[in-house]
Amino acid sequence: MTIRQAIDEDNQALQKLQARCPQGTSLQVSTVNAPDFFARVRAYEDTQVLVAEDGDRIVGSAAAAVRPGRVGDSVVPVGYQFQAFVDPDFRRKRLADALLDGLDQYLLDRGAVLAYCLIMVGNDPSMRLVERRGFVRHRDLVMNVLPVYKTMKPRAPVAVRTASAGDLPAVAALVNETWSGVQLHGPTTAEELGAVIDRTPGLSLDQFLVAESGGELRAVVGFWDWSAVMRVEVLAVSRQLRRLGRGLRLLGWFRPTPPMPRPGRVLRQVMVTTIGGRDPTALAGVFCELNNSMKARGVEQVFCITEPDSAVTEAMRGFFRVPQPLYLYVKGLTPDAALAPGAVFIDGVDL
Ligand SMILES: CC(C)(COP(=O)(O)OP(=O)(O)OC[C@H]1O[C@@H](n2cnc3c(N)ncnc32)[C@H](O)[C@@H]1OP(=O)(O)O)[C@@H](O)C(=O)NCCC(=O)NCCS
Repeated sequence: MTIRQAIDEDNQALQKLQARCPQGTSLQVSTVNAPDFFARVRAYEDTQVLVAEDGDRIVGSAAAAVRPGRVGDSVVPVGYQFQAFVDPDFRRKRLADALLDGLDQYLLDRGAVLAYCLIMVGNDPSMRLVERRGFVRHRDLVMNVLPVYKTMKPRAPVAVRTASAGDLPAVAALVNETWSGVQLHGPTTAEELGAVIDRTPGLSLDQFLVAESGGELRAVVGFWDWSAVMRVEVLAVSRQLRRLGRGLRLLGWFRPTPPMPRPGRVLRQVMVTTIGGRDPTALAGVFCELNNSMKARGVEQVFCITEPDSAVTEAMRGFFRVPQPLYLYVKGLTPDAALAPGAVFIDGVDL
């Protein structure tokens, strides 16, 4: 078995392998980075994708990225490990360990003091794997799935508009103020936000919504169009979800209800990124506008990662919201690296 860095020519083989590695329990989906396998990692400035090869057959891959993030009282390089998958024929042979050893080394070389990863509830193989590798379940977050199925009226009138380049300094300041002191947050600037937008396929300035009052920016939310970087197809729906779908269809005779995804359906989804603002009215306003503009674009689901009790979760009150537990696992790479207790910052681009 060889572990090496992925190259552009691996594109097709990686996509084929990813298609053979579906994820999810109640809703089983095939997620393939398409049209370009490598588009998804471009969201990060400093990243590495490794592949495992058996002869000339690619049988596994995993990726990592380094970014600045708060650990305790300082902002230091932190590493994120993601997108691990191993050919079903080669599972349980510790192949993922070989890939993740390589990624640990890359993170150490880049000066990262800790590594983190995000695992959805029910993904027992991944939890076994990372716990064996010294990761600790540090915090339980929520991955909120918001089906887009009806136009929503804002709870209070708030002026929401699309951001322009001139807003970036105020957006950066609002984001920094919102997450100031929060673990894993790295302060940003207008230039960095501009660079993220430029390098990330599926992200553009007009995908940021801002709420203003009294000439000041009160809230911002951006969305990443996943259809530019991945194809998500429903493979199977659990009996429990099918039952829920039948219930919703019946209820649909009386009021609008979200449809249940069916096998074979390619989903149109977006992920919330770059959230800022603490004013509940302004935050609720940008989320309502986000829902309404997604409805107009034919997007079926909005995903948003939050702390369970937070202003952002509160802003989604009144939405049909399916909360899924999402676990943040953390491992120190240097002896003293430890996150302080309390809230953490996870940007949607990580998922
Ligand atoms: C997670 C994954 C990359 C692990 O790859 P791997 O090379 O098989 O990893 P390991 O050999 O270390 O096995 C990890 C654990 O998987 C579990 N596992 C694997 N196959 C299993 C099976 N058929 N039944 C039960 N457990 C299984 C075991 O708990 C094993 O840990 P253990 O040997 O200590 O009991 C692989 O399962 C995979 O590709 N899953 C689908 C994609 C995915 O979920 N990626 C992670 C996203 S966060």
